[in-house]
Amino acid sequence: MRGFPPVKTYPVIERYGFVWVWPGDAAQADPAKLPDLAWAEDPAWAFGGGMFHVKCDYRLMIDNLMDLTHEKYVHATSIGQQELDEVPAHTSAEGDVVITRRDMTGVKAPPFWQAAMRGNGLDAEATVDRWQRCRFVPPSSVFIDVGVALAGQGGFDAPAAVKTSGIVIDLITPETETSIWYFWGLARNFRPEDKALTASIREAQGKVFMEDLEMLESQQRNLLARPERKLLSLNTDLGGVQARRIVERLVEQERAPAASAA
Ligand SMILES: [Fe+2]
Repeated sequence: MRGFPPVKTYPVIERYGFVWVWPGDAAQADPAKLPDLAWAEDPAWAFGGGMFHVKCDYRLMIDNLMDLTHEKYVHATSIGQQELDEVPAHTSAEGDVVITRRDMTGVKAPPFWQAAMRGNGLDAEATVDRWQRCRFVPPSSVFIDVGVALAGQGGFDAPAAVKTSGIVIDLITPETETSIWYFWGLARNFRPEDKALTASIREAQGKVFMEDLEMLESQQRNLLARPERKLLSLNTDLGGVQARRIVERLVEQERAPAASAA
């Protein structure tokens, strides 16, 4: 009987409903390096999501998630609105975590958020403050605090009774240089027991992310067809640019640990 050839193995850990793979030096694998997904173990929160196979470099997905200005154009019928283009985003870094935030005050909620407000018992026509706080956690996760609150109540910090909010979860597993497994979803802490609401939000979010998929695969095709061209970064790309720099540095450190420690 023929045996299987030797198979390379990787450390894995199951936590927060996902299997986390450590593809680097096994001796360095450390569960403490997992992103903190405390909501996944908290019954006050609900999660709905899915997974897409996307034919793009994982860094294109990170660029996309760290610059939500694109929502105005790519997601015009769901989460897009004019103010995304008018209110500047601010990017900062805390260690290796990059944060890009935008606060739109005194606006009308776009259709996705109107539906979520209705599902949460709020007046969907009310004027709101809307926020987005994108957090890139290396090597390839992006968590986005998103939501709307009745205008003038504090936005992100508004009391729960006047807001509808959640965390967009983006866990990206590179497959090849030009393909990824994209685990997406929304964690929310309003009406967590409402399974019909979970299903309807999941369906709406899946449609939104299908739009990203189409755009990202087109972008990748363009890059492959024109390898001599460089990516053009605009001011709004600062979050993605900083995330790429951090990834590059971490890759360098992993390749030459002795040199970086010197
Ligand atoms: Fe998008």
